[in-house]
Amino acid sequence: MEGLVDKKIIIVSNREPYSLNKGGFQKTVGGLVSALDPLMQATRGVWIASSPKGDKRDGPLRVKVPPDSPSYTLRLVPLSSSDIEGYYNGYSNRFLWPLCHITLDRIYLTRSYWRSYSRVNSLFAKAVAEEAGEDSIIWLQDYHLALAAAGIRALRPEAFVSLFWHIPWPPHGVFRICPQKKEILEGLLANDLLGFQLPSFMQNFVTCAERELGAEVDPVEGAIRHKGRLTRLRTFPISVDFGWFEAAAASPEAESFITKFLRKRDLGHLKLGLSVNRLDYTKGVIKCLEAVELFFTKYPRYRRKFTLIKVAVPTRKVEPFLSYMERVERKVESINRRFGSGGWRPVEYITSNLSHTELAALYRRADLGVISSVYDGMNLVAKEFLASQLDLSGSILISEFAGASEEIPGVTVINPYDTEACVDAMKAALETDPEDRKRKLLQARAHVRKHDIYRWVEDIFSAMKRIRDEQIPSEINGGSAVVLKR
Ligand code: UDP
Ligand code: G6P
Repeated sequence: MEGLVDKKIIIVSNREPYSLNKGGFQKTVGGLVSALDPLMQATRGVWIASSPKGDKRDGPLRVKVPPDSPSYTLRLVPLSSSDIEGYYNGYSNRFLWPLCHITLDRIYLTRSYWRSYSRVNSLFAKAVAEEAGEDSIIWLQDYHLALAAAGIRALRPEAFVSLFWHIPWPPHGVFRICPQKKEILEGLLANDLLGFQLPSFMQNFVTCAERELGAEVDPVEGAIRHKGRLTRLRTFPISVDFGWFEAAAASPEAESFITKFLRKRDLGHLKLGLSVNRLDYTKGVIKCLEAVELFFTKYPRYRRKFTLIKVAVPTRKVEPFLSYMERVERKVESINRRFGSGGWRPVEYITSNLSHTELAALYRRADLGVISSVYDGMNLVAKEFLASQLDLSGSILISEFAGASEEIPGVTVINPYDTEACVDAMKAALETDPEDRKRKLLQARAHVRKHDIYRWVEDIFSAMKRIRDEQIPSEINGGSAVVLKR
């Protein structure tokens, strides 16, 4: 990635890429960090993130990371405990997250959440203004920072600001629930470039801007004009470091991990299913477990022959995620009690944060990968699984509601709400003709190899560069603006 950008890159996200725990700095879990950490290691910029400890914060606000080979600066924005509650747990995760993932019965909102969200977005804008030079590339990440661009612009009118929206953008019929819909839309339109995972999410945003703001939309050119500003909209499906996962899956470290892992749990002789995610209701963890339960009921001959390894790492340790975690634990226990026998467990449940090398080893060994999201912007696990499938021996089932299934050819698509169909798809995938599996995997892997994380970053930075170099004024003074097309 080196040489891709000649400017100082400032990435801004809520989540910090490394967090300080008792054992030192540890990489945090989630698609955003997985995707952007390699970029920052190569380009040595500044990553601005919130400090998650609230009033209990201690330690420096600027550190070099990663701990084992420091290459870029992590600048933390300290937040009070009440702002973490209002802005992060509240507006971001109890409102925008379920709204954008269309899990409306999980929405909870108070006015204080919104006040906190606005205040914290201003704090981020101030930190950016302090870090940015004249020429910096300011790249905001995700739904926590919808209002930051306007704040940055107020402090640094010349700044070029872009935001990538990692999660789905819901249809207008859903988004209109948001009491602050105008403020959110206008906040986002303060960016010069807005990125989405899929064309359908971008189109949903366009419709919302049109209906709620009366913004002038040029869907063919992919730009929105509003209050004298021009914002370009593009789709950039996020991806993984394909070559890295391929190499990691073949590494001696992976080999040694998988040997010990299988021996310790006595799994070596079994067909293995694998489902990996943060512990989050949008990932359809309960739906996946229900499918496994029905699988052992409908196809008893798979008992003692198949185990699902369910990795579910909790990161948001507040409601409603905690209750969901308890439901998941109860479900795992009940399946294991019901079907387990003679030392065999139908579900091997893991909640610790596994390293990417450990995951690559598991992805390679798995006979079946299951992505059961009820809605998901992309799902990097699906791409990591494919990249690690060196022996072409594991099939993957991907929910039709995860962006990955829309983007990647050759994968089998499932509807996680249709448990019986999922169960039959699991059986068919395990029993599929090896040549057919290989053909499908080769097709899917070729796509992800070509559209890897480097291509994603390159596409985004080329779009930013061309918009800047063409010096298209964001303030429209008459005349038509030229916009980029992908
Ligand atoms: N992940 C990890 N360790 C784990 C479980 C997950 O590093 O034990 C990573 C996983 O490799 C992937 C990311 O967390 O890169 C999850 O990204 P995804 O896009 O699938 O979902 P998100 O968490 O962003 O919603
Ligand atoms: C998703 C979001 C990211 C977030 C990640 C982990 O990928 O798009 O913005 O960082 O989940 O969630 P968390 O709340 O633990 O940071």
